[in-house]
Amino acid sequence: MTRLTSVLFTASCMAFLHCASLSAQDTAVAKPDEKADAAVKTRTMRAAPGTPTIDGDIDKIWSTSRKAKTDRYVASESETPADEAAVAEFRCLWDAKHLYVLAVVKDAALSTSGEESWQQDSVEIFIDQNMARATSYDEDDGQYRVNGDGEISYGQVPKEAMKAIAKKTKTGYVVEAAIELTAITAEKGSKIGFDVQVNDDSDSSGTRGAIMKWNDDTNESWQDVSRLGTLVFGAAKKPKVKTEEDK
Ligand code: BGC
Ligand code: CA
Repeated sequence: MTRLTSVLFTASCMAFLHCASLSAQDTAVAKPDEKADAAVKTRTMRAAPGTPTIDGDIDKIWSTSRKAKTDRYVASESETPADEAAVAEFRCLWDAKHLYVLAVVKDAALSTSGEESWQQDSVEIFIDQNMARATSYDEDDGQYRVNGDGEISYGQVPKEAMKAIAKKTKTGYVVEAAIELTAITAEKGSKIGFDVQVNDDSDSSGTRGAIMKWNDDTNESWQDVSRLGTLVFGAAKKPKVKTEEDK
């Protein structure tokens, strides 16, 4: 090969490889669940059927549902580092007319002194009942908040559609909430847009130091339900098969 043919050969190989990688990218179609935000994978979780008593005590029925965590950090709105921010482990139950949420919050110091409800140590629940994933709030969408003292507040829609109790624990507080489903009759297989947010007034100054979320890692859920995760109303979790050692 002369020097020129060798240069031409190398150049055409590189061009071919470049085209091949471009066409691979073109055909990598996003899965439906990833469409809301390509950079952050949309999560899905399953709620189990059941009707708990809303009293702040953790009924046995909760153990039939799966557990998830508010482990996404809303960096743009937080000063407290992620590993020091309050975080919740939560579970969901459903019946025809309600969504139930149990959140066990780890919060080093409880503060509800902030003037605005969202500045206080609190748990927020977001729902999009018809899963339209709108970028604003429709009638079926809702923002529900309960602080560490059990005080309830709402976003733009709805009003007075939640029953909730908060109980302090040694490591934070527990929230048990029942949210009325006003736009759908839930049945097995129904899906709604859903998210959980934990607000943390980390230094008890009356202003929020950190936000942790389950799915949407922006602070937009209160005005935009397009980035919520997906909650599926499913069956109860299969009980663990007992081994000889467990018996
Ligand atoms: C947000 C706040 C917002 C509030 C409105 C909260 O979820 O984090 O930034 O002002 O909702 O209700
Ligand atoms: Ca909606």
